[in-house]
Amino acid sequence: MKIAVLPGDGIGPEIVAEALKVLKVLDLKFDVEAAPVGGAAYDAHGHPLPEATLKLAKASDAILFGAVGDWKYDKLERHLRPEQALLGLRKHLGLFANLRPAICYEQLTHASSLKPELVAGLDILIVRELTGDIYFGQPRGRRSSPDGAFAGAEEAFDTMRYSRPEIERIAHVAFDAARKRNKHVTSVDKANVLETSQLWKDVLTEVGKQYADVTLDHMYVDNAAMQLVKNPKFFDVVVTGNMFGDILSDEAAMLTGSIGMLPSASLNAGKQGLYEPSHGSAPDIAGKGVANPLATILSAAMMLRYSLQQAEAADRIESAVQSVLAQGLRTADIHSEGTTKVGTRAMGDAVVAAITKKTTKG
Ligand code: NAD
Ligand code: IPM
Ligand code: MN
Repeated sequence: MKIAVLPGDGIGPEIVAEALKVLKVLDLKFDVEAAPVGGAAYDAHGHPLPEATLKLAKASDAILFGAVGDWKYDKLERHLRPEQALLGLRKHLGLFANLRPAICYEQLTHASSLKPELVAGLDILIVRELTGDIYFGQPRGRRSSPDGAFAGAEEAFDTMRYSRPEIERIAHVAFDAARKRNKHVTSVDKANVLETSQLWKDVLTEVGKQYADVTLDHMYVDNAAMQLVKNPKFFDVVVTGNMFGDILSDEAAMLTGSIGMLPSASLNAGKQGLYEPSHGSAPDIAGKGVANPLATILSAAMMLRYSLQQAEAADRIESAVQSVLAQGLRTADIHSEGTTKVGTRAMGDAVVAAITKKTTKG
């Protein structure tokens, strides 16, 4: 088994180092190879996704990814921006299914910006389509407007686009996941306005007929954004397109206490996957040693479970995370009165200690 490690920019290298520390202590057999990606790769090689990095990713069973991006690259042409590395990896590896579990750990009920009773016991799985939609639709660009009230003025355009097979395969991912959970799928769209969304809704309804044991409901995205903060425990599996899923998953992250808690898995039709925290490179706190590494550590657990067939090791990481939270250890983003504030490294060390303690005990 081979893992490609792509730390990237900002807090990426700091949080990935902690996840690697945790993987190492589990003493599993796999090769690890690191490569530059994002702004770091642009600086070193003139491209955010160098050929060698893509080759390594393609040849690996799993990719552990930190984060990419920094404001200093904002003026680069779009194809050279750090974020293109991530989009390129998703597209080249066919990673169409993005799983983002928003779980509110008991110990963090009070870290959420919502009332504790609204989030206690929360466990939502967001299934975000990841290789289609307005992110990848063609044509896109800038031009002089050919018609309309602003003819001749500069305009920009993107294309929101989905095909039936693309929607079918993500629908199956959502329904299969729901079968192993509370058997409730909420499909989020904007079918009252968008053609892509109407096709999405039609296909979800059709595929849903093959899953008679799963309840399917449909919700418009604006209402879904509201319901997520009004009554989040209504949701079990949320399935939605690339852009709506991007936005709703950041919103759901806050229900769990912090964006620093939300892991993710991006899977293709095989067992290959890219694992990364749902948050970004957090340039505002990069290099300060204060970032929360738990989303990345939990992403490593998802990697063990989904790509490396090591479910037991994944369980050990997840229970170690619960145990450090129970000890009252908190990075700044989840810190509150009565808990102990720790930095990135101390948090990683504590997870390692919780794992080794359990191992020695038996
Ligand atoms: P961000 O997620 O990087 O940061 C948003 C806020 O959350 C910041 O205040 C940050 O300090 C905080 N935060 C994020 N992760 C944290 C953690 N682990 N611990 C503590 N606090 C954390 O989003 P942004 O500021 O909108 O974007 C910054 C850069 O990251 C941009 O270049 C953006 O394109 C990129 N980005 C990359 C990814 C990715 O690599 N997957 C995801 C999102 C954004
Ligand atoms: C995410 C990020 C990415 C996205 C960006 C960095 C391309 O926000 O993984 O959620 O929009 O998908
Ligand atoms: Mn995002």
